Amino acid sequence: MEKLKLAIQKSGRLYEGTVNLLANCGLNVSGGNGKLISTVQHFPMEVLFLRDDDIPQYVQDGVADVGIVGENVLVEADKEVEICEKLGFSACRLSLAVPRNTNYKDLKWFNGKHIATSYPRLLSKFLMENKIDAQIHEISGSVEIATGIGLADGICDIVSTGSTLLMNGLKEVETVFRSEAVLISNKTLTPLKIDLLNKFRFRLNAVKKASSNKYVLLNAPNERLEDIFSVLPGIKSPTVLPLAIAGWSSVHSVISEVDFWEVIDRLKEKGAQGILIVPIEKMVV
Ligand code: PRP
Ligand code: ZN
Repeated sequence: MEKLKLAIQKSGRLYEGTVNLLANCGLNVSGGNGKLISTVQHFPMEVLFLRDDDIPQYVQDGVADVGIVGENVLVEADKEVEICEKLGFSACRLSLAVPRNTNYKDLKWFNGKHIATSYPRLLSKFLMENKIDAQIHEISGSVEIATGIGLADGICDIVSTGSTLLMNGLKEVETVFRSEAVLISNKTLTPLKIDLLNKFRFRLNAVKKASSNKYVLLNAPNERLEDIFSVLPGIKSPTVLPLAIAGWSSVHSVISEVDFWEVIDRLKEKGAQGILIVPIEKMVV
């Protein structure tokens, strides 16, 4: 049977988030120990473990059908692939940083300076848009030590927690690009692969929706129900069940993470009691 070939990072910042997301989709994979390929149970999928920087190329060339990669790597690689979904994890930014004691006021500081980076394409676009004339030094790794060894005046690198910058005596001064993990696909998939990709995306979306929503259960006197419904969006309308005590009901609904606390406050104001909030595992709507 034909399988959807998915390329993921073999180790590094995206690895854990990717494997967790796949597990939540019912796709258990285990990499590590230099393993290059793994099959998935109960779904026609084969997982390839690669260096993240190589994933766009492999997907473009059809060695893999789809891939999970950071937008930073994707845009820098500049390959012909389709972006299917933003995946909402592994958020980071590509930033300019300078030695901590630098008297930095604004971007103009970089005029005539040397900047070390592994992201020459993204950086030169940013510098051009901001009309800054700086020299880019492309290096492939350990960018954070470039200023310390006198190779550059500043660096442009990925920042996630900021601890790498801190440890190297650098301070972040400008954001060049914001990134998160995305699902990409080859542009000329066969109908069969497209069908598998759609099944995979269906699972991804069910997991994504579930993680941004909560299930809420509460008790309320019947005469307050209309009021309470007015603050509950729900998927269709809330479920209402009678309680054993006469005149009271239990109300069940789904609320989004975004306005979560606000909705809870309003529910309390409107007389809701015994409010329970429960995580949702999958959401198919
Ligand atoms: C980036 C960057 C830093 C680190 C920053 O590497 O080069 O080393 O992450 O993270 P922090 O702010 O949490 O300290 P990346 O994970 O992209 O590694 P790679 O270039 O080897 O893929
Ligand atoms: Zn990398």
